Formats: sequence, C-alpha cells, structure tokens
Amino acid sequence: MNIEPDRQPLNSNDNNDERELPEIREMELADLEPVYLLGERLFPADKWPSLYRTWDEYELANLFVSDGELCFVAEDDNRVIGFAMGTLIEKRRSAWTYAHLLWLGVDPAYRGSGVAKRLLDQFTETCIEEGARMMMVDTASDNTGALRFFEGQGFGKAEQHVYLSRNLTGLPQYRRKRRRTEPRRE
Ligand SMILES: CC(C)(COP(=O)(O)OP(=O)(O)OC[C@H]1O[C@@H](n2cnc3c(N)ncnc32)[C@H](O)[C@@H]1OP(=O)(O)O)[C@@H](O)C(=O)NCCC(=O)NCCS
Repeated sequence: MNIEPDRQPLNSNDNNDERELPEIREMELADLEPVYLLGERLFPADKWPSLYRTWDEYELANLFVSDGELCFVAEDDNRVIGFAMGTLIEKRRSAWTYAHLLWLGVDPAYRGSGVAKRLLDQFTETCIEEGARMMMVDTASDNTGALRFFEGQGFGKAEQHVYLSRNLTGLPQYRRKRRRTEPRRE
C-alpha cells in the first residue's frame, strides 16, 4: 500500500508560516473517541487483515489503561490529527527492555508535515526514560509508505513473519462444541 499525502503539507504553504505546529501530548480519556474514529479510517479491517491485532474499541481502551504513559496524540485546532501508542516488553532472562510501537497514524490531510516523526520522537523519548534499549515496529509488508517512513527514522533489520490460518469449523471438536452450546430446535 502506498500512502501519499492527500494534500500539500502544511509547511509547504507560505501563508501558513505563522501557523503553529500541531501539539504533541499524552493521550487523555476524552481523546479515546476521536482517536478511535481516526484509527477506523486508517486501519480498516479489510486492508489490515493481520489477526493478532485489530483496531477496535477494546484494543484502544486496554492499551490506554495498561500503557497510558506510552499513548500520545497530535492535536491541531482542538482536533486529534494523529496518535502513537505502544507498550514495553520485558523478556524473561534478558536484561533488555523492548519498546513496541503498536499503532502510529496521522490524518491524511496532515501527512508529510513531520507529525508522525514528532509523535515517534516523543514515544521514543518516553520509552528511553522507562528503560527501553530497543524499539520494534511492525506493519503489513505492502505498507510501503510506512516502511519508508520507519526506515527514514532509523529502523532496519526487517524480518519477515508469515501468518498461517486453519479453518476450525470442519473439525469434529468444533461440531461437538456447537451441538453442546447451540439452543435445540424443537
Ligand atoms: C506512515 C505515517 C504515520 C507517516 O506520517 P507522516 O506524518 O506523513 O510522516 P512525517 O511527515 O513525519 O514523515 C517523516 C519522514 O518520513 C517520510 N515519509 C512519510 N511518509 C512517507 C511515504 N508514504 N513515503 C515515503 N516517505 C515517507 C517523509 O518524507 C519524512 O522524510 P524527511 O524527514 O526526510 O522529510 C502515515 O502515512 C500514516 O498514518 N499511515 C497510515 C497508518 C500506518 O501505516 N501506520 C504505520 C503502521 S502502525
């Protein structure tokens, strides 16, 4: 997927020179709804089929509760126009703390003006403060725009990960479970 800015970057217009940069700040409870709605536009389920993470209300609310200090928004004119959210991972038998940037998104109207870079910088700084030594990101292999963005920010050593799937509904265990749990038709 190639992600191009939908309109000219804000800072490309001379008339916008006086305009303030969007503010980067910690996410607050009131941001949950606008962040969710923006994420719904950026991560539609059909384009982001990876099952291990899905953009939905639970994902967002759980992350906000468990890792609120690692959730940031970009705000312009009282409107949420971007977000960066992630978590820290401490592996057993490893002295290293890893940061995992799980969701990064910018409103298409604001792309190409450095918002994602500033969100990532804030996220990175907080992760370092929290003890992280390594940061991981992941995205679909055809999300070339995001991949170029991450490479430009110093990420490398891409490793391919393959998702396999199996339809369980044909298995006897599945049918047994259905018989047990479905209401009987008289
Ligand atoms: C990827 C994404 C977050 C980038 O946001 P952005 O605000 O436009 O990025 P920035 O303006 O901060 O770009 C910073 C740098 O990355 C480069 N870059 C950003 N998007 C790019 C793209 N699609 N292709 C090539 N380079 C790109 C910029 O040119 C800029 O380079 P520079 O510093 O040399 O000028 C945004 O396109 C997005 O929200 N995509 C959809 C969601 C997504 O894919 N998220 C990532 C996986 S969770």
